[in-house]
Parts: sequence; C-alpha cells; structure tokens
Amino acid sequence: MNTRMKQLLDDVMPKVVEMRRDIHRHPELSGEEERTASRVADALSSLGVEFRDGVGGNGVVGLIRGARGAGRVCALRADMDALPMPEQTGLPFSSENDGVMHACGHDAHTAMLLGAAMVLARMKDDFAGSVKLVFQPAEEANPTGGAPAMIGAGALEDPHVDAMVGLHVWPSLATGEIGIRPGAMMGASDRVFVTIRGRSSHGSEPDRGVDAIATAGQVLSAFQTIVSRNVSPLDAAVLSIGTIRGGCRYNVIADEVVMEGTVRTLSPKVQDMMPERILQVAQGIAGSFGATAEVRYVKGYPPLLNDPAVTATVRGALLEGGGARVLDVEHPAMGGEDFSFFARVVPSAFLWLGCRPADADPATFAPVHNNCFAPDEACFPYGVEALVRSALAIVNDETGR
Ligand code: NI
Repeated sequence: MNTRMKQLLDDVMPKVVEMRRDIHRHPELSGEEERTASRVADALSSLGVEFRDGVGGNGVVGLIRGARGAGRVCALRADMDALPMPEQTGLPFSSENDGVMHACGHDAHTAMLLGAAMVLARMKDDFAGSVKLVFQPAEEANPTGGAPAMIGAGALEDPHVDAMVGLHVWPSLATGEIGIRPGAMMGASDRVFVTIRGRSSHGSEPDRGVDAIATAGQVLSAFQTIVSRNVSPLDAAVLSIGTIRGGCRYNVIADEVVMEGTVRTLSPKVQDMMPERILQVAQGIAGSFGATAEVRYVKGYPPLLNDPAVTATVRGALLEGGGARVLDVEHPAMGGEDFSFFARVVPSAFLWLGCRPADADPATFAPVHNNCFAPDEACFPYGVEALVRSALAIVNDETGR
C-alpha cells in the first residue's frame, strides 16, 4: 500500500499547490468564505465525493465511504478564513483582495485537505468505515469561532464521528517536521474588560475625588499575583492587559479607567478560576480606594486537548509513514485554535506541520499573523500524507475507541 499511496500523493501535489495559490489570491474574512467554500464544493463534486454545503454558515462537509463496508468514522478538518491585514509577501499569487490576507495558512490547510480527499477517494477500496472532510469557516472569529455552528448543524453526525484530526502550519518547526503531544496542545483564549470608576475633582484637590488612575495602577499590579500566587506553579496561565485608557485632562482626577486584556490557560480548571479571581482582585482593591470595579469576562475558545489514544494512533501512523520527522513537542502553545470545540466533543488529535524552509533563519522567518507569512510549499506533501495516514489508521483501528 505504501508504494501506491506514495504514487497517489505525488500525483495530487501539483493540484494542491494550484488550489492553495488560487485560495491565497482570493482570501475571504471570517464568515465571508463564499468563494472558497464554492471552490471546495466544486473540487469535491469533481471527485464524485458526496457533500453538504452551508453547514453552520459557509461550512462544507464531504464524506468518503470506504468500499469495505460500515465501520469507524474519522473526520479531518481544515479552516478556510483569512485575516484583515494587508499582504506584504511579494508572492506572485499575492492577495487580490485589498487589506485581506491568508496570514495564518488556512489557504494551505484547505488545499491540503482537498489533496487528502483526492488520495482517499482513490483508496476507498482499501478501507472500511468513512472519512468525513470538514471545511470550516470563521476560525479567526474569536470568541464565537466557526466550529460550534458546524457542530450545531450536525457536522459530526450522520454518520457519527468517532475521532477527528486537524493540523496547522507551524513556522517554528522546519519543513519535514510534525509536532504532536497528548493533552494540552493550544491554549484557551479569553478576553477581559475591567472598568474602574472613581470620582473626578481638580488635580490640585485629589482628596475631593476618587482617583480611578491611581486605583487602576494598584489593580494592575495586583493582577500580576493571580498567575504567580493563585495558579499552581505546575499549571500554565497568562493574564496580559493590553490596553488601558482613562482620564481627560492633565489637571483633572480621572473618574474612569478601562483596561482590556487577554487570558490564556491550558486547562478547563484554571480557565474557570480566572474570571472569579480577576473580579475579586479588581473589586477588592477598587473598594479599598473608594472606587468601584466592573469586570466583563468573555470566554473564547476552550483549551485544545489532544486525546491520548487518538494521539497515539496518529503518532504511530506518522512514524509508520516514515516520511516526516515526528517530534514529541514538550510544551503546548498558548495561542487559541477553535478546533478545540471539536476536540471537546470528539476524541481528537491536532498536529503542527513544520513549514519553515530548511535555509530560513528561525529567528527571522515570518510567524503566523505577520504580513510576510509565507509557509514553505514543500511542507504540503507531509501535511497531505499526515492527514491520509491518520484517517486510515483511525478507520482501521481495531482497538476500538
Ligand atoms: Ni490559524
């Protein structure tokens, strides 16, 4: 089977590159992925793969049934949306949609999943069970994301999905490397708004007012102790206040300060603790200054937790393939990824696909969400193969998760 799979992978690669460049040239923002979704639908149609479109917005779900009968169902997922930022890569297939860019590699994810569909459609005589292809919109639309709407629209049912696999191009790994780990892989990504209210007075008479700026300074300092004193040193968390605004004039005691920040955590337990601690600290400190504090905490994507059994199956399949170098990554990333919504309801594995060219300097190679981000196209064969091998390993898994 290895020789045949290799041949099929080689055959589809020019098409994968072509599709990726086409999608890259026409990036679409979260929730607006109409052209991309219709390209996906066209490609599935031409393969003779059954599909549903308009699943939870612009989502498309394809289904490849193995010819050896019913069995386990593996879903593979790709996200399709781009970011509101101008492209500066200078690539010949740069964005033609001003101010919108595929700066997170979702163009590559979509094209690689179509590549995997092409290979699997030609291999369907070799497996029982089914492979579901989940093309998801609005991954960048935190806190909502695109995954919950697809789940709500039945993407994981009929047939019911037993396990799911997704990947992300990963510039801190070199082309040819694939990172994987059981447990936490990506962080939960929440947003917090803190409003401190005092009372204004003349700057020369601070005692007649309640200084929201001085209060906010103390609240901000005390926030630093939440991660250092309330989160276990064996857990990870980040609370970063990114903006602070307040005051209207140099000689007026400010009556209001608004701070906004992001909270990243790796476990539901720590994530659940953060809103309450932030509120207690903000209200306690503000109260002691005679001010008030209001906290609005918006939960975004949950932490992305790789299921140990599915991760082991996928890891085994990658090692068996032998093409990519499989790295057991030591630490998860604190960035958010809405694949976590799928992983919360279906045992899943999420992979990092190295996409930094061998000759690129790791220190200067553009990261994701950078105007110059350009993943190495030479990583596509590794990505397509990883998807195909993971799916086959899961549908053929006799250990029966
Ligand atoms: Ni992304």
